[in-house]
Amino acid sequence: MTLFDVYPINNIAIERAEGSYVWDDEGNIYLDMYGGHAVISIGHTHPHYVARLQHQLHKIGFYSNSIEIPIQKELAKKLGEISGKEDYQLFMCNSGAEANENALKLASFYNGRKKVVSFTKAFHGRTSLAVAVTDNPNIVAPINETDNVKFLPFNDEVALANYFEHYGNDISSVIVEGIQGVGGIREASKSFLQLIRTLCTKYNAVYIADSVQCGYGRTGQFFAHDYAGIQADIYSMAKGMGNGFPVGGILIAPHIQPKHFMLGTTFGGNHLACAAALAVLEVMEQENLLMNAKHMGDYIQEGLKKFTQIKELRGRGLMIGIEMPEEWAHVKKDLLYKYKIFTGEAKPNTIRLLPALNISKKEADLFLDSFATILNA
Ligand SMILES: Cc1ncc(COP(=O)(O)O)c(C=O)c1O
Repeated sequence: MTLFDVYPINNIAIERAEGSYVWDDEGNIYLDMYGGHAVISIGHTHPHYVARLQHQLHKIGFYSNSIEIPIQKELAKKLGEISGKEDYQLFMCNSGAEANENALKLASFYNGRKKVVSFTKAFHGRTSLAVAVTDNPNIVAPINETDNVKFLPFNDEVALANYFEHYGNDISSVIVEGIQGVGGIREASKSFLQLIRTLCTKYNAVYIADSVQCGYGRTGQFFAHDYAGIQADIYSMAKGMGNGFPVGGILIAPHIQPKHFMLGTTFGGNHLACAAALAVLEVMEQENLLMNAKHMGDYIQEGLKKFTQIKELRGRGLMIGIEMPEEWAHVKKDLLYKYKIFTGEAKPNTIRLLPALNISKKEADLFLDSFATILNA
């Protein structure tokens, strides 16, 4: 049997990992400024994470949602405290796409409507509804196409206000990333998010804050949407939530009430997933990682500001986009193959930095020095 070849891959096989470093099968060491695609939040193989998962696995790994799972309640309590959303409700699933799928569906159950507003360059995942609200026709199959989605220009308050004025009573939800990730690390302006809040409240539409990539402490606040000083109706989460264990979820505001069988999943919220998610939150708290994300993010951004070759520097905390001009398009490859540093990318020429939230100054300097050597060569 062969693998279904959908990923353009680098010819590197990672065998083990620790903190912000990974080792390949030839013993080469790499600095991970990519966090395995924004997933590694507390560092690879963090000892507390490994111990908590091992301990849980020895007790019970899985049982269905038809029984009491006290560790789900423990997770909801801790997540409420750390995120500051103590009065929200938690529904758990397994991935970011699934989180958004459930958020969009729940919004439609809530207000009985079908129309969704999404934005240019948005990425929300690859399942049916999640991909329908994603602004990339190449990954939307004919079966996913729907007239229910309206794409408006990102950060365009006039277009948003106009659309609501005409169709406000048909809009079920607005889905928006606090900082677009796949779209190139583009931040929603505070006033744009505040307007979404105002219009959703006025028209009883649901504000869905896709926090799959920009959430979970990456920017220095628990959710990037928090910078706008607003409360969304639903926050979707995944990636950093389990530090690599597949776990996702939505935080749901108190006015959206549950009904039995409205949502459901076999695997979501299993014992092992909850243990992984709790381990992440415990480490985030013990090691003050939100603060570290902010400080190290500022430090890296400061370090990058002196490179005049950079076309545009974007982002917040440890979600950083370095847009390079065409003649410097090779920098990402050089970082990987010459300096053994993993980074992410957004087409055409943006390098995405999404390292673990406990990255140290030494590791940041290693990245900055290598970046400087490439640009000064
Ligand atoms: C903002 C955003 N939403 C949703 C998703 C989908 O998450 P997943 O790949 O876990 O389904 C992603 C993945 O990159 C993302 O960046």
